[in-house]
Amino acid sequence: MSEQLIPNENHRHAPNVSFVIFGASGDLTSRKILPALCNLAKDGSIGKTFSLVGIARTPLDDDGFRKLIKNAVKESNPAFDEIISRARYVNGEYTDQASFAKLKTILDETAQISLGNVTYYLATVPEMFGEVALELAKAGLSKPSGDNFIRLVIEKPFGRNLAGSKILNDKLHKAFEEKQLFRIDHYMGKENVQNLLALRFANAVFEPIWNRRYVDNVQITVSESLGVEHRGGFYETEGALRDIVQNHVMQVLALTLMEPPASVQADSIRDEKVKLLHSVEIMEAQKVNDLVVRGQYASGKIDSQDVVGYRDEPGVDPTSTTETFVAMQLEVDNWRWAGVPIYVRTGKRLPSRVTEVAMQFQRVPHLSFSKDLSKDLQPDVLVFRIQPDEGISLRFGVKVPGPTFKLQSVSMDFSYSDVFKDPPRDAYERLILDALIGDATLFIREDEVTQAWKIVAPIQESWENNSSPLCYYPSGTFGPEESSQLLSKSGRQWHLR
Ligand code: BG6
Repeated sequence: MSEQLIPNENHRHAPNVSFVIFGASGDLTSRKILPALCNLAKDGSIGKTFSLVGIARTPLDDDGFRKLIKNAVKESNPAFDEIISRARYVNGEYTDQASFAKLKTILDETAQISLGNVTYYLATVPEMFGEVALELAKAGLSKPSGDNFIRLVIEKPFGRNLAGSKILNDKLHKAFEEKQLFRIDHYMGKENVQNLLALRFANAVFEPIWNRRYVDNVQITVSESLGVEHRGGFYETEGALRDIVQNHVMQVLALTLMEPPASVQADSIRDEKVKLLHSVEIMEAQKVNDLVVRGQYASGKIDSQDVVGYRDEPGVDPTSTTETFVAMQLEVDNWRWAGVPIYVRTGKRLPSRVTEVAMQFQRVPHLSFSKDLSKDLQPDVLVFRIQPDEGISLRFGVKVPGPTFKLQSVSMDFSYSDVFKDPPRDAYERLILDALIGDATLFIREDEVTQAWKIVAPIQESWENNSSPLCYYPSGTFGPEESSQLLSKSGRQWHLR
């Protein structure tokens, strides 16, 4: 690694706390939460003032849980080893008062270290979120008793639709106040999603052109080359609209298009995000088929390897109509964006894994150069690459060296890894530490969740009524032909195609 790279200097320490994982023997705990805690311990962000408690239905004792942690993190460090040596486990059902009584006893013991501060992380199936919250309240474990804090972290999906999210929020609010709730959308933990704020609000150069006078259209792409893997059963009831659009895409969209916040305080930023989401036009039912494309992958090739179609994946109904691809056109009805189409696209089994925002600028009002010599000139575009190869590039036109005035588009590229020493941290590290510290900036407030559901609701309804066609695409392509037509009918093209 080059000596000139800039070290990432960022250090914060969690307060004294007991961190309780519900679903402690599950996949999310082993894959994401425990490795994130291990890295936080390595950094010194958590240590002797941090107690780890697991609760799950798998019959384990404290030692069994400690072994499970070691297996999950594989490598360790002295600070995390010390945390593991004190880790405690509760074996029980999430709806059984006895489990919560055991948990209470353990929390009383760990209170010597935690000072009564508790952060619960619900890594259970989403159907249990409301139930666990209510049981915690019944056991007297949801309200702080003095200066201490008690917080609850949950991760999407927050309900399956608008009505379901309301039911969930009502249950959560019976047990916890909104300010105790930390709703994770892991996209908000990605370095480059946060960098959208820096790019927009720490630079003077972009703001004057970040509006309908200069921007022709905005494109948000979340493309994955993976299929549904072993999650066929889960995905069948989910689909791309719920899995990615309602949450990850809406977060990126809000940060890209919102107004400057009054400060970087959590609620200033969240207020602006919600305001923007309120400006997104709610689609009329009869417009859904014109503005939204629903797709499903058929067999094809990814990296020259044959892959099966969605309906042949394990756990998937061979006649399934679940969408693995969505493309849509949204409108944002406010002074800044009125009339600018916002195109959104996500899918599985697309050619590569890439998440990006492309701001495509308007063409010059009059091109003085010969049409023939400028035929290779593309519209100017600012691309914000969220992953992989985090960076920013600007495409613009130049004269090709030579005797004629031939024009061509070129790109000016900035890549974070060329400048900063450490690779971006996993989103969970950032988000877990923020939840421990109590910084809610990157977490999703109730009103954001509700508004995001309202935006997708007409599409969900239309698809549930089977009034929208399902378009197939070969794996390894950027979705069905209808997705290109969504843009080509107004003379536009996807930036990645
Ligand atoms: C999750 C979805 O929220 O995000 C997955 O449930 C998807 O289906 C994943 O693969 C994508 O996340 P990332 O960080 O790989 O872009």
